[in-house]
Formats: sequence, C-alpha cells, structure tokens
Amino acid sequence: MQVDLNGKIAVVSGGSSGMGAAICERLAASGAAVVVGGRDEGRVASVVDLVHAGGGRAVAGLGDVANSAEAAALIDIAVEAFGGIHIVVNAAGVIHRADALGTSDDDWARVMSVNVDGTFFLSRAAVPVLREQGGGVIVNISSTCGLVGSAGLVAYCASKGAVTNLTRAMALDHASEGIRINAICPGSVDTPMLVSEHPEGTTADEVFARNLASIPEGRIPEPSEVADLALFLCSDAARHLHGANLSLDGGYTAQ
Ligand SMILES: NC(=O)c1ccc[n+]([C@@H]2O[C@H](COP(=O)([O-])OP(=O)(O)OC[C@H]3O[C@@H](n4cnc5c(N)ncnc54)[C@H](O)[C@@H]3O)[C@@H](O)[C@H]2O)c1
Repeated sequence: MQVDLNGKIAVVSGGSSGMGAAICERLAASGAAVVVGGRDEGRVASVVDLVHAGGGRAVAGLGDVANSAEAAALIDIAVEAFGGIHIVVNAAGVIHRADALGTSDDDWARVMSVNVDGTFFLSRAAVPVLREQGGGVIVNISSTCGLVGSAGLVAYCASKGAVTNLTRAMALDHASEGIRINAICPGSVDTPMLVSEHPEGTTADEVFARNLASIPEGRIPEPSEVADLALFLCSDAARHLHGANLSLDGGYTAQ
C-alpha cells in the first residue's frame, strides 16, 4: 500500500523493538518524520539509524511512558524537532504470564502502568497538539487479549481490555475534532515479547508450536504486517474509522 505521509510527524512509543520499530520504519519510509520512543538508548539509536539509512527523518525519544511527564515529553520532542505532531502510535507494552495467584502486586502494577497508564498518558498529552493542528491519528496496539480472555495472562488481559475500551471512549470524545483513535488487536506476532517471560526451559520452538496450533491461518506474522495495518490507519483511506479495534490474528478471535 502506497501512502504519502510527507509533511506528517509521528511519535511511536515502544519504537525500539518489535512492532514499534517496524512501524517507525514504515511510517518514515512513507515520508513521516518520526520520534522513536523507548527506554534503551542503544536500541532507540539503532532504529533511528535504520530510518536515516533508508533516507527518512527520525530522532530519539527516550523515556518511560508509565511516567506521565516522560510520556508528555515525547510530544514536546516532536514539536521541538519537527514542529508538531499528526500521528501517535502507542506500541510500548509489557507482559506477565501468570494466573491471578502468580501475579504479585508489583507484577500487576508494572503491566497496568506501562500498558494502560502509558497509553493514556501519551494519548492525553497528544490531544491538545492534534486539536490545534486540526486533527490527527492515534493508533493503539492492543491485543486479542483485549477482546477475549486468554489463560495464564490475567494482568495482561486486564490491561489490554482497558486499552481496547480506552480507544473507544477517547475516539468518541475527539471524533468531532478530526482526531481518529483506533486500535490494532494483534494475535501472536514474531517479536521478542512472544518468546519472553515463559517458564524457564521453554524453548522458542515450543512457544511457536503452541501459538500456531490456535491460529486458523496457521502462521505467525512478522511485525511488518502490523505496520501495514498501522499505515492504513494513519492514511486517509481510514478517514471514517473511529474507535475501531481491528483484530489482526489469522482468524483467532473468529473462532
Ligand atoms: N508480540 C505479540 O505476540 C503481541 C501480540 C499482541 C499485542 N502485542 C502488543 O504489541 C505491542 C508491541 O509489543 P512487541 O510484541 O513489539 O514487543 P517488544 O517487547 O518487542 O516491544 C515492546 C516495546 O515497548 C517498550 N517499553 C516497555 N516498557 C516501556 C516503558 N515503560 N516505557 C517506554 N517503552 C517501554 C520496550 O522497550 C519495547 O520497545 C505491545 O503493546 C504488546 O503488548 C504483542
């Protein structure tokens, strides 16, 4: 899909890895200037370098989105470096694989603070700038775990359910201002998160086999395939889409 994002400015949280990195690359390749958000200076710098190598424009946006001031600072970085914002992608996220009894207060707080607070803090900070510019786009990366339950993922499912409904609620508040807020709900995607936080001794092959068994299409997609859908949501082709939670899961939630 060819989309012209020349003149557009994007902030991508979690841009240093997985889907966020793929989205940074895709938006930049389509012409957008990108703030690559993340906490690890080296990994953020490598995505910035990749964008530059492809002829695109990008700067680093270091910070913890679970901290409201640091999340808001990502918007300031975009305004200072490029003059505004048009697109925000909330891709930062963490997972904890356990049932309720295996989820400590700290586990719960960590997952909720990054996935829910982080998405809220960055989106809230973006709205005044998007409004002033006459509109814009927010894309949240939720999950199939935000649409249906999944065993052994209590905090993660709760957090993604919140992101799914935050998407709808904020979309209603800002649709008439030309701000389109939608979410992508991926199933399993081949990123570092997919194989992270499993019980010790679990191999990547075992994780892939278990996930594949539940996907009707029988395939685990690449992060670039999520970036394709994010690009569509950022484009004018999605101009009437507000508050949608689009599953990208090989048919998993259709079962
Ligand atoms: N991989 C999957 O199978 C899958 C499926 C559905 C949804 N998701 C969601 O997709 C999003 C992207 O995840 P991914 O799979 O690319 O994983 P990933 O681990 O590769 O990327 C997550 C990113 O979030 C960043 N991050 C974590 N905590 C942060 C914080 N406090 N502040 C700033 N950045 C922070 C990490 O540094 C990393 O860049 C997440 O929201 C995740 O929950 C992943």
